[in-house]
Amino acid sequence: MSARADNRWPSGSSARTLETWSSSEVDPGDRTAVRDYAAAREAARRVDAPWLPPLTEHEVEGGCATAGTWSPRSVTWSSRVEVVGWADYETSEYDNHHLAWLRFDVHPDHRRRGHGSEVLAALTSRARAEGRTSIGTDGWDHAAASAFASAHGLECRSREVLRRQVLSELAWSEADRLHAESSSRAGAYELVRLDGPVPEGEIEAFARMVAAINDAPVDALDIEDEVYSPRRIRAYEDAHRLRGMRIRRLYARHRETGALAGETIVGVDTMRPHRGEQHDTAVVRAHRGHRLGLLLKLEMLRWLRDEEPRLRTIDTWNAESNDHMIAVNEALGYHVMGRALLFQKPLEGDGQGVGEP
Ligand SMILES: CC(C)(COP(=O)(O)OP(=O)(O)OC[C@H]1O[C@@H](n2cnc3c(N)ncnc32)[C@H](O)[C@@H]1OP(=O)(O)O)[C@@H](O)C(=O)NCCC(=O)NCCS
Repeated sequence: MSARADNRWPSGSSARTLETWSSSEVDPGDRTAVRDYAAAREAARRVDAPWLPPLTEHEVEGGCATAGTWSPRSVTWSSRVEVVGWADYETSEYDNHHLAWLRFDVHPDHRRRGHGSEVLAALTSRARAEGRTSIGTDGWDHAAASAFASAHGLECRSREVLRRQVLSELAWSEADRLHAESSSRAGAYELVRLDGPVPEGEIEAFARMVAAINDAPVDALDIEDEVYSPRRIRAYEDAHRLRGMRIRRLYARHRETGALAGETIVGVDTMRPHRGEQHDTAVVRAHRGHRLGLLLKLEMLRWLRDEEPRLRTIDTWNAESNDHMIAVNEALGYHVMGRALLFQKPLEGDGQGVGEP
């Protein structure tokens, strides 16, 4: 390939060492670092996932400002002359202490020169140094991701699908019919709209309800249930506020007992108010079977129609195996945009030397 003919770059990966590299964690106050990271991600997005909206510098700053509490630590990778990729290094202090999740793209102009392998090695070293015993990564379902993963002993353990709902295509008559039908099954519950922080007095109860998301399938991934706490809920709220997302949380409360039964959350991008992101939808096990999942999503659509008139699309991610949630989304007219593969491998005794300090 032509890239290999570019002799600024040695062609054998053994000839490349980290002395030709620098990597630095992005400081949200450093304009150049933020711009370089966003530009590297944007270059890869245009090639690998043109269906995604461009990442804004504002989002990068918000993510970096909450790195470690909610967001991953963002890193840019540079040669002596230019940025060749970006990476996110994500570990949780709340749960899954064995795991480091690594995300990275090599700039499309610099692929097949060993940079991906070096990024992976460096991030793996960091994970080992921090006592993590398993690494995971993900990529769009393209040949490069699978080939690269298998070259590094990473196994595909799950698949996730990105779907998009285009609101102008929504058949409101059908949505209203489904709303009436599901409301009649969910009469024991009231739906409550919350567009600010979770009230302090209820935050413990919210933390318990949010944990219902742990029932979503994880396929063969070696991951533990996520642990939710009031502090984690506040970290989520802060991270999205700083990214410029307005969070709308719609939840169901059991009328008789006051118990929180389920919720759905949509974030609307305040910088680009035509775009929305679906975050968690989960119904607590004891309250399933009353059509709350569908009703919450339909009621959310009504709320968004009333309060977010400029909103045009909502994106959602599901495990490909999450039949129940996908059935709800398909009933609402979501289209498949892209598929991602999730890879993982244990680090103990992997014997491959990848990332050995
Ligand atoms: C996957 C990705 C990170 C690889 O980065 P890279 O710098 O091109 O990878 P390397 O040069 O280190 O490749 C290492 C080995 O992976 C395999 N590989 C990488 N890209 C490949 C491709 N397009 N086709 C076939 N094999 C490939 C090869 O075995 C390669 O060794 P070789 O070049 O000696 O044959 C890059 O294509 C990318 O950024 N893709 C989008 C992000 C992504 O999918 N990330 C998920 C990774 S699991």
